[in-house]
Amino acid sequence: MRAALVRTCGAPPVPGERAVPVPAGGEILVRVTAASITPLDVLCAGGTSYFGTPATPYVPGVQGVGVRDDGTAVWFPTGAGMRPGDGSLAEYAAVRAAETVELPDGVDHRLIAALGLSAVAAQLALTWRGELRAGERVLVLGAGGVVGQAGVQLARLAGASTVIAAARSDAGRQRAERAGAAVVVPLEESDDVAGLTARLRAAADGPLDLVLDPLFGIPAAAALRTLRPGGRLVNLGSAAAETAPLDSATLRAGSLRILGYTNNELTPAQRSEALTLVAAHAAAGRLTVDYDTVRLNDISTAWHRTDQRIVVVP
Ligand SMILES: NC(=O)c1ccc[n+]([C@@H]2O[C@H](COP(=O)([O-])OP(=O)(O)OC[C@H]3O[C@@H](n4cnc5c(N)ncnc54)[C@H](OP(=O)(O)O)[C@@H]3O)[C@@H](O)[C@H]2O)c1
Repeated sequence: MRAALVRTCGAPPVPGERAVPVPAGGEILVRVTAASITPLDVLCAGGTSYFGTPATPYVPGVQGVGVRDDGTAVWFPTGAGMRPGDGSLAEYAAVRAAETVELPDGVDHRLIAALGLSAVAAQLALTWRGELRAGERVLVLGAGGVVGQAGVQLARLAGASTVIAAARSDAGRQRAERAGAAVVVPLEESDDVAGLTARLRAAADGPLDLVLDPLFGIPAAAALRTLRPGGRLVNLGSAAAETAPLDSATLRAGSLRILGYTNNELTPAQRSEALTLVAAHAAAGRLTVDYDTVRLNDISTAWHRTDQRIVVVP
């Protein structure tokens, strides 16, 4: 079969030939219809992730969408790059049957591939870790990314009364607006905490209850200062910076809560339930994200694209 192959960690995968995988106990063979390239795939294939350096060659792709041999469409996770074994960026994948999630009839496979675990993270960071309640006011940072675009829409679907957003690029700000943010605040490379805090407060027009934060760094430090006493910030990524200039006075004066989130902590049931909700919203036209589609043969040039989510079709 055709497959993307990571031959050297740190270099983009190349298209090549791989034997069709033989399912082990508890696994089934899925014919892949769409699989995305996510920051986690690039991190793992770089060889420097906290999962260690994967043995090469391997097929990357930590998630995908495909069809079982009975014709049912499913979303599936893989451990590619995190544990031994191949992933989704190939014509076929052997996946754990119990971890597959059946998809609604007629749903767009590419859209589900684009949303996938990024949307699961947005949903559960908001509602499970962040305890979002109906009527609350939410700020979504990095709202032009997939977590952010999904976060804006899912916060509204979960009953948030107001969702404001912040994003860096022009394209990201436009995506945040299309996702339904009431106001989109620009993030600048030259921002300091005080200046960004002032802009966020002006846009929020009142204290906020919850921040969804895939960025950390200065945006997270400024966002904390927009929270009401007892407000929460859920961090699920460090796209802007690994550290943030947090100050004790802001934290203690507001009795604020800073919470970490990772999909890796989810039980299969939690992940499956969240993905089912995401797929239902997508099938009903309530949830979407921008993405571009490329063929498997173009995997090498697509690998490091960051302008939007890339969905690969075998
Ligand atoms: N914890 C988890 O379980 C989990 C799950 C999924 C994702 N994540 C993490 O969450 C983060 C976002 O994921 P994603 O899927 O949304 O990725 P994505 O679609 O690639 O989006 C990345 C976003 O980060 C923004 N960004 C990058 N550098 C920035 C900077 N210096 N300042 C401000 N914004 C910056 C980009 O803004 P522009 O578009 O404006 O350039 C883009 O919107 C990643 O770090 C990812 O690893 C974590």
